Amino acid sequence: MTIIVTGGAGFIGTNFVKKWISEVTERIINIDCLTYAGNIKNLKGIANNDNYVFHKVRIGNKDAVKQILNDENPRAIINFAAESHVDRSILGPEEFFNTNVIETLSLLNNTKEYFNSLTDTKKNIFKFIHISTDEVYGSLGKEDKPSVEKDPYRPNSPYAASKAASDHLVRSFGKTYELPCIISNCSNNYGPFQYPEKLIPLIVSNALKEKELPIYGTGEQIRDWLHVSDHCDAIIDILEKGKALETYNIGGSNEIKNIELVKLICSNLDKMAPLDNGKFYESLIRFVKDRPGHDTRYAINSNKIMKDLNWKPKIPFEVGLVETIKWYIKNDYWLEDIQNKSYDGWINKNYENR
Ligand code: NAD
Ligand code: DAU
Repeated sequence: MTIIVTGGAGFIGTNFVKKWISEVTERIINIDCLTYAGNIKNLKGIANNDNYVFHKVRIGNKDAVKQILNDENPRAIINFAAESHVDRSILGPEEFFNTNVIETLSLLNNTKEYFNSLTDTKKNIFKFIHISTDEVYGSLGKEDKPSVEKDPYRPNSPYAASKAASDHLVRSFGKTYELPCIISNCSNNYGPFQYPEKLIPLIVSNALKEKELPIYGTGEQIRDWLHVSDHCDAIIDILEKGKALETYNIGGSNEIKNIELVKLICSNLDKMAPLDNGKFYESLIRFVKDRPGHDTRYAINSNKIMKDLNWKPKIPFEVGLVETIKWYIKNDYWLEDIQNKSYDGWINKNYENR
């Protein structure tokens, strides 16, 4: 049998594909158009594996995707492909709506056509899993309970709005066309291969170069962090045991303020890669102009997936964070390779007036 993933050359997709190849013997097809966030080199080690096939294709390329579905005959599609960075969505929302909504609609149309061509036996096992985010629930107050699946959507950034729109589209294909869709809404992921525009790799990378560590606003905002490997395990559980038309929240129950997280990274770096000048990494912290519409707090209630699918996170945050920092130190060439002209262009644009 075969599964298809989209966006498998990005952060979570790379971790998923690598886990799949090392733990499962089923074919996996990766459809990714390699935007700035997609990196084919992430998958170098498995490129020649008999169970792995890569297609450099946009999910919105109707004819190419149709051909792949008909040729590969997948039992499931997992849709990771998206524009994913909140700051970029603030400076340019169009691309987010193009990929996350219009192209997702094209993928859904192709999937519906493919699904309708299947025999009843194949229809019974087929799943379309849409990977989404806790950001669709909007910002929580400090005393609010963590978001549950039935909470209303209140997206605040153009990114979150585009993901909310795509979730609604997926739901509508499930309800209207009986396409067996499942949506997962996950909290902030951390781990290897995350593009260094996101908080954790950006802070580690800047610190190692003794550059300023930018904290938006006061740094009091709270995020709930989950190791990417635990997220991938949850997706595999959804693939094998999840119910069509359900949504599953996935989180680490691990809330931390940005400022505390950055200080924790700094204290770990003080031990792992002490600065020559006797300074501490914390001295590099700079409070900069806040992100517009910055959500105060995300927190996710994962009781449903824990109870129904028997999933739980395995990697304690302190352990995962140290391993992650070590990975970025050891793979500094990976960071350097990404930090090219186009990366610098984005960083300059995002931080110039802060
Ligand atoms: P990423 O930005 O690192 O990777 C996105 C991947 O999708 C890239 O490889 C890119 O080339 C590919 N892609 C983009 N547009 C495409 C298109 N039109 N056609 C084909 N491929 C395309 O993102 P990520 O952090 O790995 O996130 C993956 C998914 O998980 C996204 O849907 C995101 O919304 C969701 N998510 C992310 C997090 C997180 O903390 N990173 C948390 C919850 C949910
Ligand atoms: O919650 C899930 C979401 O997590 C995913 O859906 C998104 O794809 C993913 O990018 C992430 O969104 P965030 O906006 O939470 O992640 P980011 O790493 O950009 O920022 C984390 C927090 O750190 C946020 O409160 C903003 C803050 N921040 C970020 C950067 C890049 C800073 O203070 N300074 C920075 O330079």
